[in-house]
Amino acid sequence: MEQIHEDVERVLFSEAQLKARVEELGAAIAADYAGRALLLVGILKGSFIFLADLCRAIRLPCAVDFMAVSSYGSGSRSSGRVNITKDLSQDIAGKDVLIVEDILDSGNTLFYLTQVLRMRGPASLRVCTLLDKPERREKDIRADYRGFPIPDAFVVGYGLDYAERYRSLPYVGILKSEIYSRP
Ligand code: IMP
Ligand code: MG
Repeated sequence: MEQIHEDVERVLFSEAQLKARVEELGAAIAADYAGRALLLVGILKGSFIFLADLCRAIRLPCAVDFMAVSSYGSGSRSSGRVNITKDLSQDIAGKDVLIVEDILDSGNTLFYLTQVLRMRGPASLRVCTLLDKPERREKDIRADYRGFPIPDAFVVGYGLDYAERYRSLPYVGILKSEIYSRP
């Protein structure tokens, strides 16, 4: 057994479970986009590990680009205000775009981003999220592809952070509440 980080309450998804689910998502995406030119748009920074694994599980040629948004600061709750801090490096008009996100929580980030990207005239625009906390949704948005629904808990690992920590944990785990409730 691998050693669990002392700040992690419990592991929700092991490295093996994540790998198996990412393979399934990749296969579903490859089936849907066969014969098309897919552009994966990773939302920095949380999606970078998921995107790296997902693009290799989608056995089709695909291009990759990134956007970064700020809405969270270093806290554990979304503010509802979203800023684009890094935009795409290409025009997406006429392209089949799949947004790749780490987690869909209040929905504020993806609600805003899908509106912004849709105005740029892509051929299609869909969303793939590794994790989804449906209980916390404030905006009417759902993912077209979803790894796992999870309960309302703050999770870290596999790209997800708390105050820039824990991203490199190979599993997804629930963070001990004393870590983020500390003054
Ligand atoms: P939303 O705008 O509330 O849907 O929040 C989406 C963003 O908040 C995600 O891309 C994450 O960066 C962050 N986030 C939401 N929940 C968690 C969590 O449990 N752990 C780590 N980051 C989270
Ligand atoms: Mg994020």
